[in-house]
Amino acid sequence: MSAAPSPAFDAFAYAHQHRDRVVWMSQNTNHLVPPEIVRNAVEAALGERVYEGYPYAPGHPELKELVLADFGARPGTSCLVTSGGTESLYMLTRALLSSGDHVIASDPSYLIIHKFVELAGATTDNLDIYRPPYRLTADRVNEAVGPKTRMILLIDPLNPLGSGYPREEVRALAEIAHDRHLLLLNDVTYRDFAEQHTLAAEFAPDETLTVWSVSKNCGLAGLRLGGLLAPKELADRVNRYNTNDLGVNILAQRAAIALLRTKSSWFPAVQAQTRANQDRIRSVIGQTPGTRLPVFPSQANMFVIDLEEARIRPEELQKELLLRHGVFLRAGNYLSPAHGANFIRASFSNPASDIERFAEAFPIAVDALRPPAPRAA
Ligand SMILES: Cc1ncc(COP(=O)(O)O)c(C=O)c1O
Repeated sequence: MSAAPSPAFDAFAYAHQHRDRVVWMSQNTNHLVPPEIVRNAVEAALGERVYEGYPYAPGHPELKELVLADFGARPGTSCLVTSGGTESLYMLTRALLSSGDHVIASDPSYLIIHKFVELAGATTDNLDIYRPPYRLTADRVNEAVGPKTRMILLIDPLNPLGSGYPREEVRALAEIAHDRHLLLLNDVTYRDFAEQHTLAAEFAPDETLTVWSVSKNCGLAGLRLGGLLAPKELADRVNRYNTNDLGVNILAQRAAIALLRTKSSWFPAVQAQTRANQDRIRSVIGQTPGTRLPVFPSQANMFVIDLEEARIRPEELQKELLLRHGVFLRAGNYLSPAHGANFIRASFSNPASDIERFAEAFPIAVDALRPPAPRAA
């Protein structure tokens, strides 16, 4: 009798089951934000029993003011508050794209957005950016614009590569959007981690939809809060697709308010540790033959580790690291149809002790999976 096929290994199910023992470097989450700020804000909100009523549906006014100020938004900009940036991404693709439209995007990319584009009946034209400078360039985007192009997707800094866009490139991309009457989706989830950052809305205010999130900068991924900044006319069109007619989680909003109010006092320490961690990871990669970092330094809190020369499959490495070492990285296949079989993604807004667990585990895991060198003839 043949054995029943073993079910595919579910890394997330395993990691969640063993959460207390797992070093979480798989989702670009931030484990460095002072927890007492969140605890105090949420406890105060619980004490007021704010959960008994619905929140103010358009979003807490102070939260919106803080976000608009944080972005230096120009007057007339609307701020939508949604369940994570994800919900805004879904709403705006639904609202603004139609069947047959094309969106210029990249590979690798944050492919959930591509999925939303497809759900709207549109198509992404994915420019292969897995080569220097590991990001879109205005020249390539300009060439790719066709009669059906409706939108450019600019994720800056880019998940998963960690590449950031120089100011002049943002300006050039924004000018393409303006001159060729395209929408510009500027997903800036990781912007606080960048050494310098330029918002596309500065150059194409009428065409740009800026998606913001407090999942990564404020370390609130589990509370699911983010939103959209856009000119009123565009934001109103997007908001027709808002399923949160009764508002989004009030505890999340209160936590975000407390963190945004104080961000300038605690974010520099998050940034410094995140930088130190990527240096430490680089030293490990430098000592692990067959592995390399295509993008360094990362302008986000993640980058990819290329494994092609080591001839190791990322899914195998993900499993080995998780099961044997309790270190959770993310295999590249969910981030790149063309190159995902060659890389694994590591995020590093973690305490230094987590990074030391990685530093110990990674070379051992790679050696365990490394195929034997071909024998000389
Ligand atoms: C580029 C990008 N946009 C949006 C999101 C989702 O953010 P949120 O947690 O606010 O839904 C992520 C999450 O990893 C991301 O990488």
